[in-house]
Amino acid sequence: MTTTTTTTSSRNADPDFWQRARRHLIRYGGTFEPMIIERAQGSFVYDADGRAILDFTSGQMSALLGHGHPEIAAVVAEHARSLDHLFSGMLSRPVVDLATRLAGVAPAGLERAMLLSTGAEANEAAIKMAKLYTGKYEVVSFAQSWHGMTGGAASATYSAGRKGYGPAAVGSFAIPAPYPYRPRFERDGRFDWQAELDYAFDLIDRQSSGNLAAFIAEPILSSGGLIDLPLGYLAALKAKCSERGMLLILDEAQTGVGRTGLMFACQRDGVVPDILTLSKTLGVDDRPELTRCDHSILTHPCRLPEGALVCGYLCGSGVLGRSFPALRR
Ligand SMILES: Cc1ncc(COP(=O)(O)O)c(C=O)c1O
Repeated sequence: MTTTTTTTSSRNADPDFWQRARRHLIRYGGTFEPMIIERAQGSFVYDADGRAILDFTSGQMSALLGHGHPEIAAVVAEHARSLDHLFSGMLSRPVVDLATRLAGVAPAGLERAMLLSTGAEANEAAIKMAKLYTGKYEVVSFAQSWHGMTGGAASATYSAGRKGYGPAAVGSFAIPAPYPYRPRFERDGRFDWQAELDYAFDLIDRQSSGNLAAFIAEPILSSGGLIDLPLGYLAALKAKCSERGMLLILDEAQTGVGRTGLMFACQRDGVVPDILTLSKTLGVDDRPELTRCDHSILTHPCRLPEGALVCGYLCGSGVLGRSFPALRR
């Protein structure tokens, strides 16, 4: 439930605000912060007392260029006026420009994009593509993963949110993420992640009914505890997938678009996934209420060997088209 512990002399205590918040809002998995955010600018949010608060949440991990970047704000306004929400069968120039731009920066082979609204939706689409392409349905992910709160994405999410909703999708499996800080497998005093991976896949093979479709992974597990996959792990994981005819889906919601210093985290390892999903950082300084301005491109999943990018968090493709040059600067 909504709570506030602010003193009554603070404007953050506004009783009417909190009464209406308590009465009309639902917050899953936690409480609201006891303050009223009046505006957000650059790296700061400002509460009702005018206090500047350094936004380490980066607007739910999305405000890559800071809040209210003037160039992005201008394009949002321009598109809201002149080219907002279209039927998904209609194309506009910003959509094709964005897909071309994404293909230009993505690892080689990831040529075609499907543009959606949220990270969960991007993973949902990626998992469905993998099932359609392989004709199979089993999906494996890490036991510390977070891929979103919609059906298929939530079935592949193990770090939270599994209890109380009934069965996950049939064929959902998990393996432990390699954790060098507290290794479970050691050889000569060193973390032996390869032995852990071999053992994990041995267990998957025993549980599988022969229908392994995909592995979905974050290159750096975020919500599950900031676990950086050891160098070499992604290549070994891709090999495990290839041996079984599974697709490798990499979820770069939090690591993509320059956040690790490379355009995509998987480039550190030189591993190209079959499907790359992007969202939060791609939105750059996304306003959730504007995500409905998105455009969608539909690709035919059966042509998947060319590789696919599935992207959420776009406030209209024109916005992102503008954000790329700003990001590069
Ligand atoms: C790695 C990762 N994937 C997917 C998602 C889901 O994104 P969204 O909240 O936009 O659905 C998140 C959200 O935190 C995430 O951290």
